Amino acid sequence: MQIEDSPIVLPDDPGFGPEVQVDYPGYRSTRWRAPDRPLVTMPEELHDLAGPVFAPDTLGERDYDLTAQHEGEPLGERIVVSGRVVDQDGRPLRGALVEVWQANAGGRYRHEVDRHPAPLDPNFSGAGRCLTDEDGRYRFVTVKPGAYPWGNHENAWRPAHIHYSIFGRLFTQRLVTQMYFPGDPLFPYDPIFNSVRDPRSRELLVARFDLETTQPDWALGFRWDIVLGRGGSATTPMEEAE
Ligand SMILES: [Fe+2]
Repeated sequence: MQIEDSPIVLPDDPGFGPEVQVDYPGYRSTRWRAPDRPLVTMPEELHDLAGPVFAPDTLGERDYDLTAQHEGEPLGERIVVSGRVVDQDGRPLRGALVEVWQANAGGRYRHEVDRHPAPLDPNFSGAGRCLTDEDGRYRFVTVKPGAYPWGNHENAWRPAHIHYSIFGRLFTQRLVTQMYFPGDPLFPYDPIFNSVRDPRSRELLVARFDLETTQPDWALGFRWDIVLGRGGSATTPMEEAE
């Protein structure tokens, strides 16, 4: 594995599994976070234990709209991101809590440790949430996040992405991951994206441009569906958080 040159060179060892390598050498901090003991399997009876239930009135009316949380509108390319949350059998997950957080259009987070010299936007906090409807659908209005540098290796930049957390109705239906935008030139250089080793699984992390979701004269639309399950080729891969 070498990380100084690009594109990054992938190691031959598939590590923990074909989908996600949690101790991926190119992603430096996974060295300290990846488990170094055998994983513990959850007892079967816990698989069906009901998880938290979120009532619609626990969410604010504008929580889904990251462009409407301040007095003015944020700068950037306005987008709508929408999709369905389903289980591994394709059944919709109703009332799942979908939370997102992201950098602003300039590639900066509103967070004290983000020292990237890009402007903060007074009209953008970068966090939102919603509950899925009867058909498992969610929808966010936001601006497209910018790429940003990170200290993983020389000249390292993250592809534009939106962080997602999904609480399903069971404790085993929990997913924290990142959604990417189609055609990003930074994909080959990003160790986080490439820590999902199976190319087809990686594709599941990339939203697609969707003309149906696109709103005339207002916003581009992207579609990203999420499969919560216990693994398998259709399940949305979980990524290590940054
Ligand atoms: Fe990020």
